Amino acid sequence: MIIAPSLLAADAGKYSREIAEVESAGAEFLHIDVMDGHFVPNLSFGPNILKGIRKDSRMFFDVHLMIEHPIEYFQSFIDAGADGITIHAEVKVDLRTIQKACKAQGIKFGISLRPQTSLESIRNIIPEIDILLIMGINPGFGGQKFIPEMYRKIEESVNLRMNHSAHYMISVDGGVDQETAPLLTAAGADILVAGSAVFGKKDRRAAIAALKMGGAQ
Ligand code: DX5
Ligand code: ZN
Repeated sequence: MIIAPSLLAADAGKYSREIAEVESAGAEFLHIDVMDGHFVPNLSFGPNILKGIRKDSRMFFDVHLMIEHPIEYFQSFIDAGADGITIHAEVKVDLRTIQKACKAQGIKFGISLRPQTSLESIRNIIPEIDILLIMGINPGFGGQKFIPEMYRKIEESVNLRMNHSAHYMISVDGGVDQETAPLLTAAGADILVAGSAVFGKKDRRAAIAALKMGGAQ
């Protein structure tokens, strides 16, 4: 199980230290939530932040674009050091343009689905997806409770991958904690994005270990 601590929940006054701590504690990915105040009612990081933290970390930078106009901005996040770019299926944009640009540059391409968006919406691009990011909450804020109907969506994503000979990793974002982690693991998640359940805990090593083991601490 890959654990992706979400920077949104880290202490903004000491990103370098926060990142170093989760990296040395065994987190493979760093999840970076980009919000534009339109697609979601909140604001967060721009590419300059990425560039700054990139110098201090070797983790996979998993950039989650919750923005209305990804086509205009995705390249600046790649230039700043993203290893993966995930865009939302709900945004009116030609997903393939971004997918092709990512592939040409060796960047992983992800698609994210809000809880109410069905897997149907990605049907014509399934084989091209590297990361399928299933939202467990309505995007915009950390610290929300996982929506239980999403377990089924994860199971359906596993079936879809098999039926289409696809290769995507299934990532789950929002409401991941020590209670939901074992159920998410059983449902077929490959990556657990966790904000509060990692940066909100005093002992980050123990928190990451607990999520990796499927919740037991
Ligand atoms: C919410 C973000 C999440 C958020 C998760 O829109 O996409 O990555 O940080 O926070 P927790 O893990 O606290 O639910
Ligand atoms: Zn996210």
